[in-house]
Amino acid sequence: QARKLFDYNIVLIGFMGAGKSTISDYLSTVFDMEIVEMDQLIADREEMSIPDIFATYGEEYFRNLETNLLIEMQDKKNVVISCGGGVAMRERNVEEMKKNGKVVLLTASPETIYERVKDNNDRPVLQGRKNVAGISELMEQRREKYEAAADIVVNTDDKDVLTICEELVQKL
Ligand code: S3P
Repeated sequence: QARKLFDYNIVLIGFMGAGKSTISDYLSTVFDMEIVEMDQLIADREEMSIPDIFATYGEEYFRNLETNLLIEMQDKKNVVISCGGGVAMRERNVEEMKKNGKVVLLTASPETIYERVKDNNDRPVLQGRKNVAGISELMEQRREKYEAAADIVVNTDDKDVLTICEELVQKL
């Protein structure tokens, strides 16, 4: 029996492969929340894959779609929003995110991230840096902004989904 627990939305941010989609799936099931997978929704609406959107219209275009979507989601309640990994990089997005609810940063080591993303080719920003050093470098560039945006932080290295969600709910 799913139960409602939160009177705010949950916004999941963090690096690619940090676990945003997995954790949002689980939270939405357990707590009967609607799930909004930003990348998925953008790809569906554009009728194009994320790499094709980047290649055809450029990154800025994609980033604007992300901002618009965050604003659109503010009308919703009881939603878990799984952001794309770059969403917290724009200051404007961080403001809009905060209006959506609690912002949860998921973290993992570059080694863990590498293992999770190595067989996936849907992430244009990893092109040319799909190795531990490249991931680590981009993560360092982004760290400050991720941390500044977050209300709470949950590490996902070497933990199963249930343990991660328990920790997350406790910290909320
Ligand atoms: C991006 C992360 C991706 C996707 C796009 C850009 C980024 O989302 O939005 O490829 O800049 O970190 P995931 O974090 O779901 O892979």
